[in-house]
Amino acid sequence: MEKLRGIRVCVFDAYGTLFDVHAPLRRLAPEIGPKAEEISELWRRKQLEYTWLRSLMGVHADFWQVTGEALDYALERHQVAEPGLRDEIMALFLKLDAYPDAREALAAVKATGRLTAILSNGSPSMLEAAVRHAGLDGLFNALLSVEEVGIYKPSRRVYRLAMQKLQLQDPASVCFVSANSWDAQGAAQFGFQAVRVNRTGAGDDRIPGRPAAQIGDLSELTALI
Ligand code: LAC
Repeated sequence: MEKLRGIRVCVFDAYGTLFDVHAPLRRLAPEIGPKAEEISELWRRKQLEYTWLRSLMGVHADFWQVTGEALDYALERHQVAEPGLRDEIMALFLKLDAYPDAREALAAVKATGRLTAILSNGSPSMLEAAVRHAGLDGLFNALLSVEEVGIYKPSRRVYRLAMQKLQLQDPASVCFVSANSWDAQGAAQFGFQAVRVNRTGAGDDRIPGRPAAQIGDLSELTALI
């Protein structure tokens, strides 16, 4: 694969890229039964939809609220109403498993002398909790949240925030890594050199923005930069 040139910083998406958003329902599957997987898929889809809808409506609420509202929708749709379960699932969202390839990949990027950061829809406290729980502390120069701009990805304002915070002039000096196709494509459209982590083999979304590279998992990242 051709190397990306001129990369000074690697900026990572959080949910779906470093952290497995389906871990909570997988953990609770023995309690919930076979519909756990479907609930998890719907929860994630609604969580993202609500970020886009709120951004279009101009009515921002932080990712913790949006995540809870999406979970309420998914549980109701599947007629799950066990007392305490909603709170249990939400608590697990603060303690997601990192993908097994995350730690080593981050350490390898750091070892090249580049800066590393997270740029995520997650609120600052959610990101801090996820990083701490996964034992990834110390591997990032910055944890950047959309809360600073009050709108969600893929707004250009979010990607611009990373430029400002990391004091960069040239968007092409950023390697932006995301397993969410629309996020990688949004970042590419903004001008970052985007790397899509394609764990499932799904095609690109039919929206503008073409990632500079695609990898199967994070272990392939350092060979690119
Ligand atoms: C994030 C969303 C895309 O972490 O999952 O920004």
